[in-house]
Amino acid sequence: MTDRRDTSADRIENAGRRKFLTRAVAGGLAATTGAGALAQQKQEPAKADPGALKSNPRNLPPNVPKWSKFLGDSVAAHPYGKPSKFEKHVVRRDVEWLTASRESSVNFTPLHELDGIITPNGLCFERHHGGAAEINPLDHRLMLHGLVDKPLLFTMDDIKRFPRHNRMHFLECAANSGMEWRGAQLNGCQFTHGMVHNVMYTGVMLKDVLAEAGLKPNAKWLQVEGADSSGMNRSLPLEKALADCMLAFKMNGEALRTEQGYPLRLVVPGWEGNLWIKWIRRIEVGDQPWMAREETSKYTDLLADGRSRRFTFVMDAKSVITNPSPEAPLRHKGRNVLTGIAWSGRGTVPRVDVTLDGGRNWREARIDGPILDKSLVRFYVDFDWQGQELMIQSRAHDQTGYVQPTKNELRKVRGVNSIYHNNGIQTWLVRANGETENVEIG
Ligand code: MTE
Ligand code: CO
Repeated sequence: MTDRRDTSADRIENAGRRKFLTRAVAGGLAATTGAGALAQQKQEPAKADPGALKSNPRNLPPNVPKWSKFLGDSVAAHPYGKPSKFEKHVVRRDVEWLTASRESSVNFTPLHELDGIITPNGLCFERHHGGAAEINPLDHRLMLHGLVDKPLLFTMDDIKRFPRHNRMHFLECAANSGMEWRGAQLNGCQFTHGMVHNVMYTGVMLKDVLAEAGLKPNAKWLQVEGADSSGMNRSLPLEKALADCMLAFKMNGEALRTEQGYPLRLVVPGWEGNLWIKWIRRIEVGDQPWMAREETSKYTDLLADGRSRRFTFVMDAKSVITNPSPEAPLRHKGRNVLTGIAWSGRGTVPRVDVTLDGGRNWREARIDGPILDKSLVRFYVDFDWQGQELMIQSRAHDQTGYVQPTKNELRKVRGVNSIYHNNGIQTWLVRANGETENVEIG
């Protein structure tokens, strides 16, 4: 096998799909174009190792376990708490050969290890184009200029004095499931769907900050720009900025993590992750889009007829079963819990259907927990498993009535050139021994 490091140019998002596939051949990825053939030769990224945990019979009833016989750690042991040592395997993971460098790269949320709808801060996937910038908040400024009455430069303290709001939202990278456009490729829920996280943001409404500067009548677009070495910039329609965008400084109650844009990030509810500028340092108001690299050469969807869809901002309804999944096989006959997540960039997801037999029969899953606007919902199906083979799928319905399509339905209208906006239905095959695999049917 050739050196995988020089087989890619930031494959997931920075490489065109065609280039990606050609080069992937050298990297050992399945190279045929037919979806079926790809499904036969899926790439196996490093599997989660649940940490060779072993039970010690001396700790089991009727014995008194060792932790009942000694004092535990003092309250001073961990000024900042961390997960139990038995949860060491619950980490973000990346696929080393996927990108040329680890600074312009991505890692993935371990969806199969999580429950409920909140992604813990330390497990939110990261996508950087120039590494994670470490910014002293005292040295950070947000500049607001262009078609405004009065250009302004804000300190972090200035920002925090605007009225504060709390909103729970998912962020999904447009390239999530992008590897799966032509067929099943990555054998793990973390890798096929892990470019999504769901966080409670605290911050201020962008409209309030814009109002402070005063918008000129011809203002229509914003250019938003990050302070990291990539200087990531995108054009954002003013209408969206005024509707529900936020400048956030807290995630799940604490300061943003460095990786998520500390000290300030843009929140663009329901729209593709690339617009959610981290380490945001500049907002320019204009009357037309800037046609930046990330909205022309990237983040456009090349159709089969050679035309490209542009400004495909909204993330359509999607769902995935996180357990069972390749990293979380079935281990027990009898009572089992199937669970997963669903989301939509167009509002709430009031309903999710699940099939266990490849789409012949569907049943409505039980959503448990809050159903919020542009946020993950959590669903469950409690079922009895007697070792029969299963083909499991989930299908989200959003509040607009839109139903998550199959991958083939999507391919019919979008072709297979794009690496973005793949919200097709995922299939997992559960074998008689419980092992679970990424497959495609139909
Ligand atoms: N903002 C800056 N400044 N630099 C970046 O590289 N990456 C974008 C977006 N904002 C990026 C950025 C992309 S492509 C995505 S998907 C999200 O941030 C990822 O956010 P996360 O790292 O919090 O998951
Ligand atoms: Co992205």
